[in-house]
Amino acid sequence: MSTDPTTLEETLVTERALWQDGPPHELFKELRGGCPVHWTSRISEYPEEAGFWSVTTADDVDEVSHDWQTYSSELGGITALTNAIMPLELVQAMFIGMDPPKHDRLKMLFQRGFTPKRIAEHEDAIRAIAVGALDGVAGRETCDLVTDVAQPVVSRVIGSFMGIPPEDDAIWARLMNTTLGAGDPDLNPEGVPSVMEREVPEIFERCRRLIAERRERPTEDLTSLLVHAEVDGQRLEEHEIVMGFFLLVAAGNDSTKATYCSGMRALLDHPDQRQLLVDDPALIGSAVEESLRMFPAFAHFRRTATHDTELGGQPIREGDKVVMWYVSSNRDESRFEDPDRFDVTRNPDHQAFGAGGRHFCLGAALARLELRILFEETLARFPAMELAGAPEYAESPFVNQLKTLPVRLRP
Ligand code: HEM
Repeated sequence: MSTDPTTLEETLVTERALWQDGPPHELFKELRGGCPVHWTSRISEYPEEAGFWSVTTADDVDEVSHDWQTYSSELGGITALTNAIMPLELVQAMFIGMDPPKHDRLKMLFQRGFTPKRIAEHEDAIRAIAVGALDGVAGRETCDLVTDVAQPVVSRVIGSFMGIPPEDDAIWARLMNTTLGAGDPDLNPEGVPSVMEREVPEIFERCRRLIAERRERPTEDLTSLLVHAEVDGQRLEEHEIVMGFFLLVAAGNDSTKATYCSGMRALLDHPDQRQLLVDDPALIGSAVEESLRMFPAFAHFRRTATHDTELGGQPIREGDKVVMWYVSSNRDESRFEDPDRFDVTRNPDHQAFGAGGRHFCLGAALARLELRILFEETLARFPAMELAGAPEYAESPFVNQLKTLPVRLRP
């Protein structure tokens, strides 16, 4: 199973060959059973990067997520690779890459944009965007759900939420796909540094222009809210808004797309489960949670130990990388019966948005609403949709997503 398979202990969890057809679920099952906190000594494609601990059970992921004093998001970034997806300074400028108290102040200000009321107000707009994309493909025999439906919908939803003009959607989407898809030869053919150098300054400039416009003329969008938000007399600085903007578009783009496409693929593979939803659309909320559980859009997030400690019986040293594998914890047999079975009636309590604690996903409610609407509208129009070819996975131990999902629509 591993590329260097002498013993489970010696397996290198992020080896590219293990991730070509999605996450190595059999390996994670073995780790949960035999070595639940596991050391990978090196990352072959990035010899300059240190090894890391893999945390594979739901209980241990809970422990790491809740103990920010021991497991920092700031010291070494948030992915197993410290610098390869984004340079560390960029990650540390976003609140996902900060620890309290800096993190809490920024998150509190951003949370104002994600109140249940503001999200509910967006429902009609999200539905119109989803319907527009699905009606756009309805006359065709086949399409690619990733590029023809999911990408334009998620880009426009986050774009309209933020106030990004529609003509900029494709630019943001390309930037996010190339940076987050680091390592995949199709998504990121040039490598991260060149994309960063060429595109990031341009995109930051666009943010600054939007911020200046909203300062002059307030509107109803999130950018305007952030520009004018005040807590205890404090306002956000321009660079804090720019970096928050970058974080929200990064976090909101790929993730919802990934979950929708993986969930749709599972429904196409399990027509009995799809029929349950077609017959009773009230089950779609539960199907969204089951899709999030089985196919968490981010395979992992990482912390760095702030002092020597112990986790699951393993001694962890100060400075060690500690990687929480949601693709494993969400299939932990001690939490979920028959965890590899896709069951749309399960309505599970999962860790796809993180396991609680300070960094729990800010966009969870928006993502849930968007996914429910996408499933509802897709199934209402195309209840007999079929696979039209083999879907391809992004080759990545970070983003857990399909890069193509060819379907025959059969309206
Ligand atoms: C299916 C969709 C999504 C999934 C699976 C997802 C997953 C996650 C996860 C696992 C984290 C925790 C990171 C950590 O523990 O270090 C996170 C954080 C975050 N997510 Fe999401 N996310 C989704 C959608 C969104 C959307 C739509 C937005 C914004 C519009 C968003 C914004 C954020 C932000 C800002 C954070 C950082 C929170 C913090 O550090 O306090 N996410 N997300």
